[in-house]
Amino acid sequence: MKLSGRLLAISHKVTPAAGLADIGTDHGKLPVYLILKGIIPFAIASDNRIASLGKARVLVKKCNLESKINLRLGSGLAVLRHGEANQIVVAGMGGPLIAEIINCTQARTCGKLILQPMQYPAYLSRWLCVNGFDIMDEELVEDGGRIYRIFVCRAGSPQKVRDEVFNDVGEKLIEKKDPLLGKYTYQIIERYRYIYNSTTDIRAKAKLKDKIFKLEGILNEYKSTDNI
Ligand SMILES: C[S@@+](CC[C@H](N)C(=O)[O-])C[C@H]1O[C@@H](n2cnc3c(N)ncnc32)[C@H](O)[C@@H]1O
Repeated sequence: MKLSGRLLAISHKVTPAAGLADIGTDHGKLPVYLILKGIIPFAIASDNRIASLGKARVLVKKCNLESKINLRLGSGLAVLRHGEANQIVVAGMGGPLIAEIINCTQARTCGKLILQPMQYPAYLSRWLCVNGFDIMDEELVEDGGRIYRIFVCRAGSPQKVRDEVFNDVGEKLIEKKDPLLGKYTYQIIERYRYIYNSTTDIRAKAKLKDKIFKLEGILNEYKSTDNI
């Protein structure tokens, strides 16, 4: 079975030999792949839509994995009993929905959360920071002409204050000089420049100018290390 580049990058963040809960599994490809490859021994795959879980059920049956993948219908982490999964994936949804899903005790007591927002990654990054989740690792992956952010985090220190620019481009991406950092930062700068040129709101313009300036600083630093 072949995974998309996005799902493959998520699979690389999974700790081997440990169970996993895939919340919002839809087609169920991620847990099926991880078990077929012998990376994890079992998984809980859940979705709040009957039709989505039905797709996962078909794939699980086709691959003869009924004894290794427990399918559950329900919303968010409510499908999990306390301590049942020490690593949880929530992928392929918007940043605000992911934040809503992990705003619960199960997420705070779980050892590892692997999150991959499709839209509003900066919202999720900020939410994690404000709500006391530590981002342990972050990675960019390009798939189908789009760049996605993957966060690996766990509940940690309470509220930290950090510059807003790090919601757009995570500190971990900068630290490890992610190969897509230059391209990603440039895309954000272009988007902010477009908004800057389209708005007449003086305060919004000033905020955007500041963000563009800081992002250009990150980009120049990155370029100076011969990455692009
Ligand atoms: C676009 S699919 C992503 C599938 C897969 N995780 C991936 O990354 O390719 C999003 C799935 O999340 C499910 N979903 C949305 N809100 C949910 C919630 N609160 N709890 C569980 N599943 C949810 C949807 O039904 C849908 O099947």
